[in-house]
Amino acid sequence: MFEQCIIKHDGKIQTPDFPVIPYIEGDGIGAEITRPTLEVIDHAVRKAYSGKRKIQWIEIFAGDKAYRQTGEWLPADTVTVIEKYLVALKGPLATPVGGGIRSLNVALRRQLDLYACVRPVRWFQGIESPLKKPELVDMVIFRENTEDLYCGIEFMRGEAETAKVEHFLMKELYVKAIPFPGDSSYGIKPVSKNASERLVRASVRYAIEQRRPAVTLVHKGNIMKFTEGAFRNWGFGLIEKEFQKDCYLEKDAGQSPESGKICIRDRIVDAFFQDMLLNPARHSIVATLNLNGDYISDLAAAMVGGVGIAPGANIHFETGRAVFEATHGTAPDIAGQDKANPTSLILSGKMLLEHIGWQEAATLIQRAVEKMFQEKTGTSDLFAQTTGARMVGTAEFAERLRAAIEHFD
Ligand code: NAI
Repeated sequence: MFEQCIIKHDGKIQTPDFPVIPYIEGDGIGAEITRPTLEVIDHAVRKAYSGKRKIQWIEIFAGDKAYRQTGEWLPADTVTVIEKYLVALKGPLATPVGGGIRSLNVALRRQLDLYACVRPVRWFQGIESPLKKPELVDMVIFRENTEDLYCGIEFMRGEAETAKVEHFLMKELYVKAIPFPGDSSYGIKPVSKNASERLVRASVRYAIEQRRPAVTLVHKGNIMKFTEGAFRNWGFGLIEKEFQKDCYLEKDAGQSPESGKICIRDRIVDAFFQDMLLNPARHSIVATLNLNGDYISDLAAAMVGGVGIAPGANIHFETGRAVFEATHGTAPDIAGQDKANPTSLILSGKMLLEHIGWQEAATLIQRAVEKMFQEKTGTSDLFAQTTGARMVGTAEFAERLRAAIEHFD
């Protein structure tokens, strides 16, 4: 009955009724949040489809658990299994200290070419926010996932290779702008037309499918003209070529939106940080480069309650391959204390269900989370400062979610 893969055929995800989906438990709080998340997802699926559909979870390994078993942080098998089964759920992974692999998360995304990191950010009633009108926050961030400074092409001050890089820059390319030659480290920032275009394409397609009103391209193109500036220009060029009938440019429309079309705008990243706080409703979909996206998504999460509730997915939209994961890390400071908030991973699980077309089960999870927060029931990261809240541990929170799902019509 099981052992069936989800596949992508004719541009559409095809999900059998009993798909196999791999999961990585994760390090630190990983075990505490992953197990309850699987249970909540199973519960929602059972409730939605009365046993006619069921996920067969298989555990695959990365991080501490993999290292203990195989001596490798990210065994090749793990990547192969995700390739085979198309989608996976992943708990947070610690970045091993010392040489070798820089970040398991980055390595996994790059090996599977999961080029878009998709992070929806919205406010839930009942959650305290530093904003006056948090209900205006409903944005989806598309962060480019494969290049930029995250490629790890770095050269340390004082090393022989660094001297070569510096020599090449100064003597062959006649670069005069290095303030302290001989005393500098270097980092290289590859930004390609291909990666920029596919990310922007995915964000605009998503906006069309989800009937979102606007896409904002965020960059620092005024300073980094050939990388971030090129991202902006390639993005605008692509939109003009492929989406002209669906979109209009903010600068052409003035204050009057064109009905039914998507407004395309761009913002310099520093100005964007101010704008997303002051005018969050203006930015429905955000498409940006890797590093900007990292900063923006944590600020966006803080606007609505913190990383404990912000879900995320890493997706290759054309192959359908995707890894759904909490946006936070392993939280070593609270690991093993039943304090971790599992919502981020649970909502990532909800995104997984949407991705495979099981919308009914996804909606049940969404409604249950909304109910819990409306009743001010949640973990201490959300409700420690809230009067009248019911603060619960990780396990009890998940149990109450399952009970809420059970009682829905
Ligand atoms: P972190 O996200 O683990 O923790 C930052 C703060 O947020 C801590 O105070 C922590 O207690 C709190 N926090 C995080 N998740 C929480 C949750 N679910 N419920 C309640 N509170 C939560 O970031 P940090 O400390 O910088 O990184 C720890 C490790 O995680 C590092 O090895 C890092 O490389 C890794 N990491 C992994 C990520 C991933 O797997 N996608 C993402 C970010 C970091």
